[in-house]
Amino acid sequence: MPARVIPIADHRGSTRLPAVPAALRAPNGRLADTRGRALHDLRISVTDRCNFRCTYCMPKSVFDKDYRYLAHDELLSFEEIVRVAALFAAHGVSKVRLTGGEPLLRKNVEDLVAMLAALRDANGEPLDLTLTTNGALLPRKARALKAAGLKRLTVSLDSLDDAVFRAMNDVDFPVADVLAGIDAAEEAGFRDIKVNMVVKRGVNDADIVPMARRFKGSGRIVRFIEFMDVGSSNGWRMDDVVPSAEVVARIDAHLPLVEAAPNYTGEVAERWQYRDGTGEIGVISSVTQAFCGTCTRARLSTEGRLFTCLFAQSGHDLRALLRGGRSDAEIAAAIGLIWEARDDNYSEIRTAETARLRKIEMSYIGG
Ligand code: GTP
Ligand code: 5AD
Ligand code: SF4
Ligand code: SF4
Repeated sequence: MPARVIPIADHRGSTRLPAVPAALRAPNGRLADTRGRALHDLRISVTDRCNFRCTYCMPKSVFDKDYRYLAHDELLSFEEIVRVAALFAAHGVSKVRLTGGEPLLRKNVEDLVAMLAALRDANGEPLDLTLTTNGALLPRKARALKAAGLKRLTVSLDSLDDAVFRAMNDVDFPVADVLAGIDAAEEAGFRDIKVNMVVKRGVNDADIVPMARRFKGSGRIVRFIEFMDVGSSNGWRMDDVVPSAEVVARIDAHLPLVEAAPNYTGEVAERWQYRDGTGEIGVISSVTQAFCGTCTRARLSTEGRLFTCLFAQSGHDLRALLRGGRSDAEIAAAIGLIWEARDDNYSEIRTAETARLRKIEMSYIGG
């Protein structure tokens, strides 16, 4: 049998110029892709840089001093980001998440938050505006983010064991400083803060129960994320994945749980509540229980490429339209065409072979 050709993408994938249709239809907030999925969420990466080197995301062997990050003039400006976000809102997006890299490294990111907070969705409501951070800069930034109109926060924390956490972030960053960041966020007025823990077997799975125990009753919601084969530099193997069913069973053995209904259709995390009524956890099972069927998420990279899947190999160059003198109506129409042609369902069709493909790095496309 001839060898299959495996497409090669660099860390940013390939790019194409979006088609602009001759007949422009105004957005009506009700797009659907080829699988009938609406467009509800936009995840915007505001920088491809990070002050951590988590081994599963930005391993030092690849993201070293020679790694070529995007140059400043390649990034979308705040004005460009807001212009695109407004068009997405007209198409039906009501939730916007800022990601990175580490989004708090983007200079004056709170100004961008304020600009996005002024937008309205297709129903005239403010956007559900949220951000995922490693927490290191929260003591400095939390108040400004809250004042700018950020509604919610998710903080990544992979272990409470200082040695394990320092090894996972690979820059010797202490657990205590992330916890201080979460406290600073709460003092600034953020509620229901989510804590994301990526679980890797043999690395931090001993921390599953301690993490649950630590945050139980605190109002903070820990979400246990299956280690995914994003990018091509994290050496992903199925053996490293701890299935969410096992995570739930391990916690349930110590702290009894009962499954809870989703907050909304298409929620990424499956919710479990403590039987004693002291809060909840979430599990995110992209590997063992794909949720592509209800995936309503679009991703905008730092330099303005639109990706219709976390595992996409190619993006649509919206920046070329923004900087090429195209009107809002033209760009909105181009976005509409892209979404209507979307058929991504990577997590449903993942195999050992697809896991080996060179895919776009998470630090670039956004978490
Ligand atoms: P809430 O709005 O607070 O419910 O957050 P969310 O469900 O959007 O979760 P969040 O953005 O914190 O995502 C948590 C993690 O789930 C991400 O960091 C990814 O690891 C994973 N994830 C989120 N969206 C997708 C997706 O579309 N596909 C896959 N495969 N994984 C995703
Ligand atoms: N698998 C699962 N989650 C990941 N994240 C980064 N890389 C991976 C991966 N390979 C998570 C981070 C953070 C969010 C942005 O994405 O831990 O919580
Ligand atoms: Fe940075 Fe988050 Fe990636 Fe860790 S997971 S390297 S904190 S972007
Ligand atoms: Fe959505 Fe792609 Fe993730 Fe499936 S793999 S849930 S289509 S982003």
